[in-house]
Amino acid sequence: MSAPLRQGELAEATVVPVALGERAYDIAIGRGLLASLGARIKALRPGAKCAIVTDTTVARHHLAAAEASLTAAGIASARIVVPPGEGSKSYATFQQVCEQIIAARIERGDLIVALGGGVIGDLAGFAAASVRRGLDYVQVPTTLLAQVDSSVGGKTGIDSPLGKNLIGAFHQPILVVADTALLDTLPKRDFRAGYAEVAKYGLLGDAAFFAWLELNWQDLFAGGPAREHAIAVCCRGKASIVARDERETGERALLNLGHTFGHALEAAAGFSGRLLHGEAISLGMALAFDFSARKGLIAAAEAERAEAHLAAVGLPTHLKDNPGGTPGVDRLMDLIAQDKKVKRGALTFILVRGIGQAFVESDVDPAEVRAFLTDKLSA
Ligand SMILES: NC(=O)c1ccc[n+]([C@@H]2O[C@H](COP(=O)([O-])OP(=O)(O)OC[C@H]3O[C@@H](n4cnc5c(N)ncnc54)[C@H](O)[C@@H]3O)[C@@H](O)[C@H]2O)c1
Ligand SMILES: [Zn+2]
Repeated sequence: MSAPLRQGELAEATVVPVALGERAYDIAIGRGLLASLGARIKALRPGAKCAIVTDTTVARHHLAAAEASLTAAGIASARIVVPPGEGSKSYATFQQVCEQIIAARIERGDLIVALGGGVIGDLAGFAAASVRRGLDYVQVPTTLLAQVDSSVGGKTGIDSPLGKNLIGAFHQPILVVADTALLDTLPKRDFRAGYAEVAKYGLLGDAAFFAWLELNWQDLFAGGPAREHAIAVCCRGKASIVARDERETGERALLNLGHTFGHALEAAAGFSGRLLHGEAISLGMALAFDFSARKGLIAAAEAERAEAHLAAVGLPTHLKDNPGGTPGVDRLMDLIAQDKKVKRGALTFILVRGIGQAFVESDVDPAEVRAFLTDKLSA
């Protein structure tokens, strides 16, 4: 467990800057950093009040420590606690969170603190973007997925009954505090699913990092120094892509490696706990590598190496192992076509020319995808 910090002390942190001009901010990463949250906020926004938005599960584990850190820095805070799970990215919960922020008299100059996984980050970030036309907010990600992905880059939002993440805004936080010790309470399955996004950074653009992960993933899972290092590498990777393409007009799309196939599988499982997002992305990345090999873009052995690592950590890589259950090819093709990355009949996929060499291919023939999936489903 992390050593408690004295009041106001700033824990040893790795700081990754996100270079976005006047919207620039820091990601502080390290074991035990939650104790420094209050001091960090006070340094950025002296005199600000906070509303902490969290879910009941995270509250049970980490809310008291977050509140204690704010109190120690002399910061008044309110708590807004919602049920855990994707269901809270709804109009109804969004409304409740906004009303509670207003009732807590959080005004311009005050802060929202998103304490939780990607659900809380997206929900609280969107409430921050909306209440009083925009309040500043701080991300305190508590899942591996949130520490390497959703807390960085400013995409916020909720789900529509017609589809995931359809209502939202770009709204950058003013600070991200990623305390890697908070992941010690995360269920193993959620941790492993988040790891798919860690591997994604290596697979899409950093072959050396992927090779490092092949050697060091066990220490990362165990909470050793590899965990901080890996999270910092991922945040640096995402921060540099976001700094060059904040609103996803180009390069940011590479972060969607494995996500076209993955989203279709998630939708088929009804976005339920049967198939976690990271599990779907593991399956999707294995398919993207396989499809790239079939197109002759990458050697089969290289695709197998990518897949072997995902399998080694216990992630699913074969459609027959999909815990959500895989539908037939017609349904899969329908779901792929509904994905947002479709333009005039052609499909857009992130494909690879090697480990660490992803690129956007916006002219994929649906018939080729269908033939590929038909083969995979009969394998
Ligand atoms: N904004 C973005 O750029 C972005 C990127 C990727 C994903 N997302 C979104 O993120 C969401 C998924 O995020 P997630 O996987 O973090 O899910 P989540 O927030 O639902 O967290 C997963 C589960 O773990 C619990 N939990 C969280 N932290 C814990 C801890 N430290 N200890 C014990 N339990 C803990 C939660 O209560 C929840 O039940 C999706 O809604 C997805 O759309 C957003
Ligand atoms: Zn993802």
